[in-house]
Amino acid sequence: KILILDFGSQVTQLIARRVRDAHVFCEVHPCDVTNEWVHEYAKDGRLKGVILSGSHASIYEETTDKAPRAVFDLGVPVLGICYGMQAMAHQLGGVVQSGHKREFGPADVRAHGHTQLLEGIQDYTTSMGHGMLQVWMSHGDKVTELPPGFKLMASTDSCPIAGMADEERRFYGVQFHPEVTHTKRGAAILERFVLDICGTRADWIMGDYIDEAVEKIRAQVGSEEVILGLSGGVDSSVAAALIHRAIGDQLTCVFVDHGLLRLNEGDMVMDMFVGKLHAKVIRVDAAEQFLGHLAGVSEPEAKRKIIGREFVEVFKAQAQKLRASDATNNGAKWLAQGTIYPDVIESGGAKSKKAVTIKSHHNVGGLPEQLGLKLLEPLRELFKDEVRELGVALGLPHDMVYRHPFPGPGLGVRILGEVKKEYAELLRRADAIFIEELRNFKDETTGKSWYDLTSQAFAVFLPVKSVGVMGDGRTYDYVVALRAVQTSDFMTADWAELPYALLKKVSSRIINEVRGINRVTYDVSSKPPATIEWE
Ligand code: XMP
Repeated sequence: KILILDFGSQVTQLIARRVRDAHVFCEVHPCDVTNEWVHEYAKDGRLKGVILSGSHASIYEETTDKAPRAVFDLGVPVLGICYGMQAMAHQLGGVVQSGHKREFGPADVRAHGHTQLLEGIQDYTTSMGHGMLQVWMSHGDKVTELPPGFKLMASTDSCPIAGMADEERRFYGVQFHPEVTHTKRGAAILERFVLDICGTRADWIMGDYIDEAVEKIRAQVGSEEVILGLSGGVDSSVAAALIHRAIGDQLTCVFVDHGLLRLNEGDMVMDMFVGKLHAKVIRVDAAEQFLGHLAGVSEPEAKRKIIGREFVEVFKAQAQKLRASDATNNGAKWLAQGTIYPDVIESGGAKSKKAVTIKSHHNVGGLPEQLGLKLLEPLRELFKDEVRELGVALGLPHDMVYRHPFPGPGLGVRILGEVKKEYAELLRRADAIFIEELRNFKDETTGKSWYDLTSQAFAVFLPVKSVGVMGDGRTYDYVVALRAVQTSDFMTADWAELPYALLKKVSSRIINEVRGINRVTYDVSSKPPATIEWE
């Protein structure tokens, strides 16, 4: 295994992710662990290498952390990244200088001599025959004198010591960030370190992660009870399946049906979790309550606030009921959440107003404190694609795990203006037809369905009536808009160029099958300036 010591960089988990991508087991621990802890950790001989992460701190601030001396005495390879390299240089007798200028952004690094870490890894060769790497830099301080035993491994014009190596002791330092994708060969460098230099075996798989996570959850909660808010979305579903695997009936899921879910969604969630996994799920049918509070409200933010607030109310009432009814008087002590790593970063950094709104809804903020519950977040270190892989490994159906995202407020933001039960019913049926046809239609060149070729697709209900003709009669009915986008990060998005034949089929099915809708339009707006959702 590989130990990653975290000095507080925003991207430490990316290092872990790259190590997992190389199929090697790793753990992230804070950098201020003691020497005794390090020796204890390495005692069983499984520790094959240590990576020191970056940090925003400066090595010369009084309060800044150093690496525990023990990591340099274990006899295993050590890789220092950015601040990690500076800490290594400083602690092993080199010199680090405070930079007056921050270097931030792409840089071309020249590799010097032959080091096992960079041998054969390069992006291009200069006319002088120098091997070059295109990397991402983000630092203020820099190493200005190599520690004894080290040789120069890499340099740039502004950072003459951008990499250093002591191949005898197998200590390496890089000033750039191999863990971010802007460093093109970064994954190859980290793989070289963990596989070839540390000599780990590439045999770690998601199945192993389940075993480790199960052990961790059991150790954490012991015999105490856990409550989890199940939404039917990917993250809470995977968290529920994982925790259920670990502690079975000690877990109770609360599934709040706010009446704004997709067609048959509630039943599907129950079939899966109760029918197949035999988990304890309390389904709270709160549709009337939500719709009651939404009556007469048409302003989008006001609608979101009501849905968020009601959700917390309903969930809280259930949790309190559960605690009170527990015969052993040993009620739930834990609240489990499907928080994933991008959520952790999002809530830590400065974010747009929208991001804050998104968080405040789906993370039931403040609930653990109000309920006096401890927080259990077993997916905290995973990225979305890893969560999906984990879900499949846990036996959740592929279609559930690879579903498009669905906003917490559900159809509440897809029914423009006032939300009414009648509108929700029409929209649900139109949306289901659209999704069904997206899944049916395959793209000829790739063989993939249009559902898989789009990142998010849904129908939007427009509460305006237009005239149509059906058979011999005139109709005066509502309109739905179809929305399908392609995006990698949901911050920007292109409208999907769906085949006309697909649009034609969807439109004709909706108009024929959903009485009350007589017109279908397709949204051809990109984000920005439009957003993905209409509200
Ligand atoms: P927009 O409309 O801002 O949406 O382009 C970007 C992504 O965020 C989703 N979204 C939400 N998700 N609660 C959520 O859990 C919300 O309140 C919310 N609003 C938007 C949206 O579906 C899209 O994927």
